[in-house]
Amino acid sequence: MKRLGILLSGRGSNFEAIANNVASGRLEAEIAAVISNRPEAPGLQIARERGLPAVVMPSKGVAREDYDRSVVAELTKRGVDLICLAGFMRLLSADFCRAFPMRILNIHPSLLPAFPGLDAQKQALEHGVKISGCTVHFVDELLDAGPIVLQAAVLVLDQDTVDSLSARILAEEHRIYSEAIRIVLSGRWRIEGRRVVAG
Ligand code: GRF
Repeated sequence: MKRLGILLSGRGSNFEAIANNVASGRLEAEIAAVISNRPEAPGLQIARERGLPAVVMPSKGVAREDYDRSVVAELTKRGVDLICLAGFMRLLSADFCRAFPMRILNIHPSLLPAFPGLDAQKQALEHGVKISGCTVHFVDELLDAGPIVLQAAVLVLDQDTVDSLSARILAEEHRIYSEAIRIVLSGRWRIEGRRVVAG
């Protein structure tokens, strides 16, 4: 069984959606660790309630290289095959990315490469796009930049607020993250340039 390492900083709804799919057998994998850099992250509590290994690794005041080294060590110790960033509010160092090449995924609430970074839904609304969505991509050391595994489109409505748009995007995030994990774990893909293609 492939082992997932989840990294989060907050609410943890994407993690919860993944955990639900694992629990129901729709996603064949096990969650080997849920690591948070914020001790107060609600996602950690969700992990504890589900009996999953919740690991607090506070990042405050720790130099990036030192912090990343200890997270890499923890993930390695737990034999993680694939790392899923799920609202992990930190940029990973090059060393971290190199430790797990093409084995780190992230979910971002826009159709990348549009609106990388913080508040993607607000950026989309303010820009006036008519379609936004979410993206699951491999992680490299650049922000929201690696090869794209899956995307889902969401229509932006005239009456949308940041909250209403975010909620509809989030529903799609919960759907495609597990799907992308399934694809990546299957091993039936390859990279052509920037493209992730079947095969
Ligand atoms: C999601 O919108 C995700 O796309 C972004 O951070 C948010 C995390 O939400 N990277 P949650 O903690 O999974 O509920």
